[in-house]
Amino acid sequence: MKKLIVANWKMNGTAIFTQKLLAPIIDKKTSPLSEIVICPPFPLLHAAHNIMRDSQLHLGAQDCHHEPSGAFTGNVSASLLKEMGCSFVIVGHSERRLHHHENNALIKAKAIAAINNNITPIICIGENLEVRNSGQAISTVIKQLSECLPESKSSCIIAYEPIWAIGTGMSATEDNIAEMHKEIRDFVGTGIKILYGGSVNAKNAASILTIDNVDGVLVGGASLQADTFLEIINY
Ligand code: PGA
Repeated sequence: MKKLIVANWKMNGTAIFTQKLLAPIIDKKTSPLSEIVICPPFPLLHAAHNIMRDSQLHLGAQDCHHEPSGAFTGNVSASLLKEMGCSFVIVGHSERRLHHHENNALIKAKAIAAINNNITPIICIGENLEVRNSGQAISTVIKQLSECLPESKSSCIIAYEPIWAIGTGMSATEDNIAEMHKEIRDFVGTGIKILYGGSVNAKNAASILTIDNVDGVLVGGASLQADTFLEIINY
């Protein structure tokens, strides 16, 4: 089965960057090994959609609001994301949990809003270093999962992203990943993709993608350079 490779640009990129980054990725055709989702910042969705229109790349957003519309200054609804061409949305990223105080109940509501608009939510979960060092990583992640996952869970993707591995250059070990993904798999059952995220790069992607129950990767920093991202896609 193809692996899902999701690029999370975070708050990076410009219109010119979008063109320059996506052109070689589209040119080189997508790998038969992978399905690709590009998640730029909101203002670049339109440009990215136009560039990717006839390609096999999918468009995703980095967040959505849980309400359909209304007085929510600065927020974006799932229905508008759909109109902009998105078929995926990341919800509950640890940076949203930290900087925007998002909790599991809110993240679940966002996932439901996405599903209601035919968008696949990529629900992020993961423990911090303190929790890992205290031996509570598995129970913490499974609690997050149980509180974030909507009833219609088959429409969701899970991304396990240990916070201590995000943007640090220090990905989780293969044993850590295998252990956590097995726990998540036992909880969600088959038919749901489970991604790993946290310092995935051109060097470690291939081995991470061969770990049992790893159906793809969520890539931050390494998705911002075309050659590096192409290496990951063609792991
Ligand atoms: P990173 O980010 O690949 O830069 O560690 C991953 C993420 O936050 O999704």
